[in-house]
Amino acid sequence: MATASDIEKAAEVLRTGGLVALPTETVYGLGANAEDPAAVARIFQVKGRPPSHPLIVHIGGAEHLDEWVEEVPATARLLAGHFWPGPLTLVLRRGRRVPLEATGGLETVAVRVPDHPVALALLSAFGGGVTAPSANRFGSVSPTTADHVRAELGDAVDFVLDGGSCGVGVESTIVDVTGETPSILRPGGVTREDLEAVLGCPIEVPSTSHVRVPGQHPSHYAPRARVVLVEPEEVVAEAGRAQEEGHQVGVFLPAASADAPVKAHAVVTLPESLDAYARGLYGFLRELDQQGCDLIVASLPAEQGLGLAIANRLRRAAGPRSSQ
Ligand code: TXA
Ligand code: MG
Repeated sequence: MATASDIEKAAEVLRTGGLVALPTETVYGLGANAEDPAAVARIFQVKGRPPSHPLIVHIGGAEHLDEWVEEVPATARLLAGHFWPGPLTLVLRRGRRVPLEATGGLETVAVRVPDHPVALALLSAFGGGVTAPSANRFGSVSPTTADHVRAELGDAVDFVLDGGSCGVGVESTIVDVTGETPSILRPGGVTREDLEAVLGCPIEVPSTSHVRVPGQHPSHYAPRARVVLVEPEEVVAEAGRAQEEGHQVGVFLPAASADAPVKAHAVVTLPESLDAYARGLYGFLRELDQQGCDLIVASLPAEQGLGLAIANRLRRAAGPRSSQ
């Protein structure tokens, strides 16, 4: 676990243009000083991410929001007041302080206040904003432990702050509040139902976005193994079939089928609660990769509550690959 002196060191690394991996409640981020274009450029280089893909600026509290954006509509204040610190990212009009390098050239900026004591301590010690995408290579599975970050990025990061396992496990919900009505650009840790309860009206989840959103690329959040999605009651049969065909099959076994005999190389029995499923999701995918599976058979949960974000990530993990 990160100590007070680790936090000080990490803040100094940010001040001198370095990269710090930091824990948040969702996933680990790869952070740089948001106002340092050269440091921001290094994030893209280390991740292998195209520079046109915008980053999230992490700030220490809702009271700093006006420093980073041009205008804060009432809806944004309402959502920030309700969900920050927490797994909600708001897209707003870019303030002067945010360099275009951080927004991929967009005139809007994504901002959030993470709900993790280590991230908040770092933001407070550093004093500025920290741009941080998830601390994984472009397209692959987001890290939810400091070990995942070290295994994936190694020496490319100047300092890794260890804050234990991430409690939410899937990325933040991104809500665009620049238009007439708010819309969800990426489902995540704050549920659609919770947003609607606070807004008092239904909120759109468009299937495609007019902005370039890396999280919306078909093959994102993907393990090495190919992911195949089938109906929940088909999982066991499909796994057996693929294993017989010679695949090293990994299975996401629905809790309801926990007692079924499964023919497969490796089995993850899914937790019943969606909270636990979201928390474990990326770790399960990594685990099946590590066990040498070349195919993962899974099904989608009902798209309610955190099920919406889990289903979104599984669909993208199963999406077409450009390089395979
Ligand atoms: O939970 C999270 O959001 C994590 C932690 C580290 O905070 N971060 C994260 O960052 O998932 P990243 O870079 O992997 O995903 C950021 C998402 C991308 O889909 C990006 O396109 C979107 O935010 N985004 C950033 N700025 C945007 C903008 N101005 N307009 C629309 N989407 C934006
Ligand atoms: Mg990411």
